[in-house]
Amino acid sequence: MKREIDTLIRETFGRLTQVDSASALEKLHIEVLGRKGALAGLFKKLGSRPESERPALGKALNEARVQLESALEEARVRTVSVPSVASTIDITLPGRTPNLGHLHPITQVGMEITEVFRGLGFEVVEGPDVELDYYNFEALNIPKDHPARDMQDTFYITDNIVLRTHTSPIQVRVMEKQKPPVRIIAPGKAYRCDSDMTHTPMFHQVEGLMVDKDVRFADLKGILTIFVRQMFGSDVDLRFRPSFFPFTEPSAEVDMKCVMCMGEGCRVCSETGWLEILGSGMVDPEVFKMVGYDPEEVTGFAFGMGIERIAMLKYGINDLRLFFDNDLRFLEQF
Ligand code: PHE
Repeated sequence: MKREIDTLIRETFGRLTQVDSASALEKLHIEVLGRKGALAGLFKKLGSRPESERPALGKALNEARVQLESALEEARVRTVSVPSVASTIDITLPGRTPNLGHLHPITQVGMEITEVFRGLGFEVVEGPDVELDYYNFEALNIPKDHPARDMQDTFYITDNIVLRTHTSPIQVRVMEKQKPPVRIIAPGKAYRCDSDMTHTPMFHQVEGLMVDKDVRFADLKGILTIFVRQMFGSDVDLRFRPSFFPFTEPSAEVDMKCVMCMGEGCRVCSETGWLEILGSGMVDPEVFKMVGYDPEEVTGFAFGMGIERIAMLKYGINDLRLFFDNDLRFLEQF
């Protein structure tokens, strides 16, 4: 009878390797482990064996049952789970693409601008949006009663705290902490109480500052020309117009050849052939004195540009407010 047990195990294992469906497995299970199955038959025969053999045979039969049950269970997991997954999922269907967001166009253009200056050796720094009156105005040579404060449409939080109206206070913060040479580029938000087609109460600027021995206006022109040509194309010319900022002397506003008409005159440039892109100048000696630099020792230039303005020119957008409506039909184009 021991031989019969071994044979049953061997045969069952052999048949298990052939099983390829849940129903075939179920059939085998009934034949081997069912109430009237092969194993039950052997248990029945136990009664007719001599008493001395029964304990050993009973043990062998119990072990056989455990072995067969686990082998059949293992086969069940294999045959049941694999075909059922394969039959419910059509792996030939195209996948579902997740909706991917991307950086806001203003962020993208801001990064592009800072990237050009990083390539020229400028270090990227930031400063606080909520700023002391001192850094936003006083230290930039704009005292309390200065008429230039009028242009800035300042949001005051208290008498001494404002939302910064430009990124220029970052210049002062950097110079207070660092001895020359300084070469920084500072992107960030700026705030002015103003709202129409070309103004929003919050907008973005990039500030640039370079201070060292013998920094000249020619360096300012060179750096800005390289910048504009990298952003807009190698054939774009610049024009420097005299202007005034309390913190630079001399000051200049910079225009670039209109990228829409290449200087011919069109609606975008109001028929002038030129587009204003930034304010700039040589750092005023008064500003150097305020941060403890010796204006006899060092000179420098600074510039500030609106990121929205650069983005509008780059992409031919005529309404600034589109950037902040967050209409996906607009944003998805970038
Ligand atoms: N801060 C000036 C503005 O917002 C721009 C500027 C920066 C001009 C640096 C000169 C030098 O209008």
